[in-house]
Amino acid sequence: MSFIKELPVNEFEFDLDFDGMLSEFNLRKNESKRLLKKGDGRELASEEEADHKGWILDLYEGYVYEECSRLCAALGIKDFKVRIMSYTSEDYLDWHVDPFPHTTRINVLLTEPFPTVFENGDYSYRLAIVDATRKKHKFDNKGKPPRAIVRIQVNDFTYDKLCDHLNDINYPSLH
Ligand SMILES: [Fe+2]
Repeated sequence: MSFIKELPVNEFEFDLDFDGMLSEFNLRKNESKRLLKKGDGRELASEEEADHKGWILDLYEGYVYEECSRLCAALGIKDFKVRIMSYTSEDYLDWHVDPFPHTTRINVLLTEPFPTVFENGDYSYRLAIVDATRKKHKFDNKGKPPRAIVRIQVNDFTYDKLCDHLNDINYPSLH
């Protein structure tokens, strides 16, 4: 099946070592920094003021980074950044659009699949390209178990260009 630009989430498969990645995250999660934002993108709001709460861990080496490098190499992506976003049972992200629309996102869910909410509905996936830099989305982890997502920021393709590219190389999507 092909990647569809109009869908905010296009799921696909790759033989990532999800369990090994989660193990490394669990060993390193205390290196994470608190991310507090307002919906308008302002950073460093207080816990009370923020409507966008989570933890971030930027990675430049290590097992998770190496697995992401292997995935990006297979997809023909050369310029990317890796971050793990994690959420406690008090964290949530209100409606927002991620910055940098000339980039796009690949999300890898390290904990069980759970939905990201877009304006046209909820999308559950394990591994997907996600149109988070152009389409409004939100996610509420309040009252839920702790979650962790690897977010790959793809700098060399927009979402549309990445869909075209993956279709050109005949990479299958899951629909
Ligand atoms: Fe987002």
